[in-house]
Amino acid sequence: LIETTFFSSVQDRVLLVEDKIRSKADGHNHTLAAALNHLLSSGGKRIRVVVTLLAGKMIQADPDRLITLAAAIEALHTATLVHDDLIDGALIRRGIPTLNAQWSPAATVLTGDFIFAQAAKLAAETESIDVMRLFSETLATIVNGEITQLFSSKWTANRENYYRRIYAKTASLFETAAAATVLLTSESANYYELLRQYGYEIGMAFQMVDDILDFTGEQATMGKPVASDLRQGLITLPAIYYLESNPKEQYLQEMLESNFTDEERIGKLLASIRSSGAIQKSLNEANQAIGRGLQALNKLPETPERHALEDLAHYIVEREI
Ligand code: IPE
Ligand code: IPE
Ligand code: MG
Ligand code: MG
Repeated sequence: LIETTFFSSVQDRVLLVEDKIRSKADGHNHTLAAALNHLLSSGGKRIRVVVTLLAGKMIQADPDRLITLAAAIEALHTATLVHDDLIDGALIRRGIPTLNAQWSPAATVLTGDFIFAQAAKLAAETESIDVMRLFSETLATIVNGEITQLFSSKWTANRENYYRRIYAKTASLFETAAAATVLLTSESANYYELLRQYGYEIGMAFQMVDDILDFTGEQATMGKPVASDLRQGLITLPAIYYLESNPKEQYLQEMLESNFTDEERIGKLLASIRSSGAIQKSLNEANQAIGRGLQALNKLPETPERHALEDLAHYIVEREI
């Protein structure tokens, strides 16, 4: 859990959100309950939950439906991580073994499916058809992004393509976390668009920072594998900037053409990228996105929650996990 002021103001309600998700395993196979407990007790920053709770309170959405909406968002996020770790073959997340590290692929896929089902149920429990529609559209966007990535063997390392990918995998859910709250009120479309923009920008920045931390972070701090994107043939923003400034870089070019297996070369390439200006350029870009998010936020009602959402936006680029 994050030790910050923006977090402490919603801490009690975050616990209610977790209880709500946990209760969804009641009456089902005990393995599903155990998996859900394992996932929820391992922590996670709950950043999307906090976005929903703060945005909703700022615009005076009904508190009970807000808890349900936040639970739906976090359940969707959790389910995508279960499947993502299986797909990536990642054995550790939030500092503990992933489900796929302990169970068969079949059991892992089914558990992910179960959590997706509960996310849909929670979305339905908000009693808003618009929330349900937005949920299914967001999940379709995420899956479409992931499968596009899977079937593109060699990434054309350009920024436009990168922005599309990170919108799909991450920013789309942040958009929904922020904007869906408006669907629980009788507020104008104006609030929807502003919160959507805020969610979009902090979500884009969030994934840029995740991609930077894959180069600069440590597994012990992050609780998940680092230096893994390039190894998987995934070209992210720091590598794109690096390639733009070093178009003749032989390792990276060769890697793009081969199968990313030469461990010594990957090590050298990682070191080159880490010590290049590409990291700072990427961070600057994340900061610019945060700036645009804050501009949108500024037009929303000035309440304590709005200030907390400002702090949350700053936290996204300052975080180390
Ligand atoms: C991880 O999200 C997946 C990405 C979109 C990068 P988080 O970094 O929010 O994961 P948890 O929930 O805090 O573990
Ligand atoms: C998470 O992206 C994938 C989805 C949200 C679908 P990453 O692969 O970058 O997340 P981590 O780095 O494993 O947390
Ligand atoms: Mg992953
Ligand atoms: Mg990552």
